[in-house]
Amino acid sequence: MLRIGMLTSGGDCQALNAAMRGVVKGLVSKRDDVEIYGFQDGYKGLIYSNFKMLTSKDFSGILTLGGTILGTSRQPFKLMRVPDKDGIDKVEAMKHTYHKLNLDCLVILGGNGTHKSANMLREEGLNVVTLPKTIDNDLWGTDMTFGFQSAVDIATDTIDRIHTTATSHSRVFMEVMGHKVGWVTLHAGIAGGADIILLPEMPYDINSVVEAIEKRGKAGKRFTIIAVAEGAISKEDAALSKKELKEKKAKKKYPSVAYELAEKIQEKTDKEVRITVPGHTQRGGSPCAYDRVLATRLGAEAARAILEGDFGCMVGTKNQEIIRVPLSEVAGKLKYVDPKASIIK
Ligand code: F6P
Repeated sequence: MLRIGMLTSGGDCQALNAAMRGVVKGLVSKRDDVEIYGFQDGYKGLIYSNFKMLTSKDFSGILTLGGTILGTSRQPFKLMRVPDKDGIDKVEAMKHTYHKLNLDCLVILGGNGTHKSANMLREEGLNVVTLPKTIDNDLWGTDMTFGFQSAVDIATDTIDRIHTTATSHSRVFMEVMGHKVGWVTLHAGIAGGADIILLPEMPYDINSVVEAIEKRGKAGKRFTIIAVAEGAISKEDAALSKKELKEKKAKKKYPSVAYELAEKIQEKTDKEVRITVPGHTQRGGSPCAYDRVLATRLGAEAARAILEGDFGCMVGTKNQEIIRVPLSEVAGKLKYVDPKASIIK
């Protein structure tokens, strides 16, 4: 008997179901004695032994389905070693569930925080294989995460729609997801033809933003579209210490970074600004074709790793090929946009 536990953790994204389907199809095509335990709502399911026994039928017909059939939740890594409100040791509880069910391996789908916890479980002696999910594409060790291309398509579509209305009126800009990294904003910004793109990795100078807007005005352009990442930051704020920044933000609260930027632009120009925040729509709905293919390939490779007994790895991509990367190398590292990269030039 091959007993596999599976969980999805952190913010959801498109193609989580497609990836799990890939794993299960890969396993059951080679073995007819596979038992699948689906843990509910991420690590919580593993901690509190909340699971459903699933069969390959449960993974049929879900290739195009958004969200995750297992549910997910955020379970911060930094709290994993802190007992819960009832004094339960979360790490010990997860190990207990794993051993109680006699699992051979855990398949964990998640982003950065999830990978830190997965690596900790590996260090605690559990067999773990992970899959890189996140719209942010910021996981170290893989060129691409599933969810990213779908989110870029949605954000691009939003920019396209803004374009037509912006042409009729004055100016509009939008805020794209991505707190610490700007991959989605960068790609959607280029694909949608945004006039200004602001990323967390490259603090902006408000005067340059204003100059660019005015230059467009002088050239007879009626509008400027700014694609701004959730985590975009001004040069001024980037120079502050964490404490100073926190104090500054506490003094004047904005619903999000786009509102702060809008205020600055309105102060410095006579332009009208409109804000569009596609927000969680970027994580919703069906995966795009690219993500369906990627997630299926990654899932199938995870199945191969399990069948070979090759644990402690994340399945990712490098130069269009599917690879396995040691979890110890992935955990705790972010893949940022390099300001010197050719795509920036
Ligand atoms: O991790 C993906 C992501 O969508 C980020 O881009 C965003 O900053 C964050 O999650 C939003 O998190 P939540 O869904 O918990 O509000």
